[in-house]
Amino acid sequence: MKVSKKVVGVEYAIRDIVLAARKVQQKGMKVDYLNIGDPVQFGFQPPNNVKQALIDAINKGENYYSTSEGLEELRDEIAKKENTKGLSIEADDILVTNGVSEGLEMVISSIVDEGDEVLLPGPYYPPYASYVKLHGGIPIEFAVDLENSTPDIEDIRKKISSKTVAICLISPNNPTGVVFNENSLRELVNIANQNNLYIICDEIYDQIIFDEKFVGIGKVADDSPVIVLNGFSKVHLMSGWRIGYIAFNHSSKLDELRENLPKLARVRIATNLPVQYAALESLRGPQDYITKFVSEIKKRRDLVVKRLNEIPGLSCPNPKGAFYAFPKIENNRFGSDKEFVTKLLESKGVLTVHGSGFGKQYGSDHFRLVYLPSLETLDSAMTKIEEFVNQ
Ligand SMILES: Cc1ncc(COP(=O)(O)O)c(C=O)c1O
Repeated sequence: MKVSKKVVGVEYAIRDIVLAARKVQQKGMKVDYLNIGDPVQFGFQPPNNVKQALIDAINKGENYYSTSEGLEELRDEIAKKENTKGLSIEADDILVTNGVSEGLEMVISSIVDEGDEVLLPGPYYPPYASYVKLHGGIPIEFAVDLENSTPDIEDIRKKISSKTVAICLISPNNPTGVVFNENSLRELVNIANQNNLYIICDEIYDQIIFDEKFVGIGKVADDSPVIVLNGFSKVHLMSGWRIGYIAFNHSSKLDELRENLPKLARVRIATNLPVQYAALESLRGPQDYITKFVSEIKKRRDLVVKRLNEIPGLSCPNPKGAFYAFPKIENNRFGSDKEFVTKLLESKGVLTVHGSGFGKQYGSDHFRLVYLPSLETLDSAMTKIEEFVNQ
């Protein structure tokens, strides 16, 4: 029976690689899963008041369809959070979604037609390219200096064409942990304005920052057309509950999009209502669980980056945010990064993701690992990687 060409082309390296890990496990080998960026699978949990808010909502009978745009109280609270980051918005500027993933699909399907081009940071979180391609568009990767955390503005300039409709930013970035500073964000906004592009900024890791202060796109955007994607899966430890949002700033260039995109929210009816109450509590309640989580994973980052850089043949810039390390494989004797990752899995049981899964142009010759497991697990996984590289 017929299957569309566009769906056959969809890839998601982070989860696709798990099939290979299952085979290794079936042979009796223990696998260290360093592939999925889900803190809740590594012992971090939403705090009790947030869990209780979910249970209470269910018990109070909040089990019906919510409005398509989401609970007003929640949107109010989200607006307050975004205001503190410099994005000047109100509840009406927000659409609650089933995770950033759904928000991203709504945004891309609302702005991309056949042949349109979308600029993505190289390397990028894979669904950005998948959704662009699914809608007939072409993802174009731009260079980012991973050591200095700066976008290559000249490279962006060269890659903009009459077909370019948007530039996507992911800060802090998955898979590199790069965080753009205020100056870089200003340069990006300027170049987007000069070329009439939407600025789509994914800030899902906005509070998972280790060394410097986070600067949101809202702080520098003025009246440029900015769409912020954010959610509760990472900072708020609610990955399995599937909740996020789209926030639009007040640029008049967004008027037509804001008239049309919410139709997609209405078509899919609504997001999970009890979870919206839990998300509300996660914003209103005590925030110390976030500080504890971040200081815990900072220790894990420090260990992993130190150990990786001690291995001859690997080099790893210091991630400034999120929970991923993205080492470069120098003189790869395995030919490709995919082969490196597969052999590492088969011989040592350490599951990572090949860098080319995050964009071939800038991701190749790297691999990504998640530093969410315990210090003991990470230390032992680093020893296995070291033995593997030295073999
Ligand atoms: C940059 C980025 N955006 C979005 C997501 C997915 O977010 P959600 O769980 O809200 O769909 C991830 C998950 O890894 C991510 O790294």
